[in-house]
Amino acid sequence: MSKQTLDRILQSQGFGTRKGCQKLIEAGEVSIAGASVADPRAAFETDALEFAVYGESWDYREHVYIVLNKPANFECSRKPSHHPGVLTLLPEQFAWRDVQPVGRLDHDTTGMLLMSDDGPFIHAQSSPKKHIPKIYAATAHDPVTPELIASLLAGVKLHDEPAPLAAVSCRQLDDHRLEIVLEQGKYHQVKRMLAAAGNHCDALCRIAIGGLTLAALGLAEGEWCYLDEAQRALLVSGA
Ligand code: URA
Repeated sequence: MSKQTLDRILQSQGFGTRKGCQKLIEAGEVSIAGASVADPRAAFETDALEFAVYGESWDYREHVYIVLNKPANFECSRKPSHHPGVLTLLPEQFAWRDVQPVGRLDHDTTGMLLMSDDGPFIHAQSSPKKHIPKIYAATAHDPVTPELIASLLAGVKLHDEPAPLAAVSCRQLDDHRLEIVLEQGKYHQVKRMLAAAGNHCDALCRIAIGGLTLAALGLAEGEWCYLDEAQRALLVSGA
């Protein structure tokens, strides 16, 4: 159990600077259990705390773990240059709390993007040592052939990579689509592997991470949801 003053609670939840949060509280914009609390120094247990700011309800969260179904034409970079950043698709509190993508998807890649403000979680999820499978559905420009699948499974040599990179598994979905599972996350890896195997990736969607699938989350493009503990455990269940 931990008791904190309301101004610090709001600050930790991404509602601005401490001063800004104090002003918000003094202006009567923050309520707890339906009653406005105008004293920034009032202290509350943070466990299971629910509060409202401008009438919108929030649960206190020590850390945020979310999945965004990333649409095309959004960048994962902190300083996006050609397209809006993925953080613009989330409540602004998340940027204040330094929520960031776990790894990156290309601007034109869609699908499952994990985001968090928990440093050790981000590190563990991104570590190649954890061998967390990432599952992609790729649309190939030329028809998918058994030879293409065989090359991706055997490993292809990419420029700047000392050893060939292979898919953990790979299967044809239809004439032009294949599912490919990778454990690494090298720059443009799926696209470069398809190109090295003599085809071209026209579209790419990440459909699962570990045992957690985008289909199970039921998110439309641009939608996001919090992950509970059981869902987070699934992320590493395929590892
Ligand atoms: N591989 C790619 O080529 N692009 C992505 O966005 C993810 C994996």
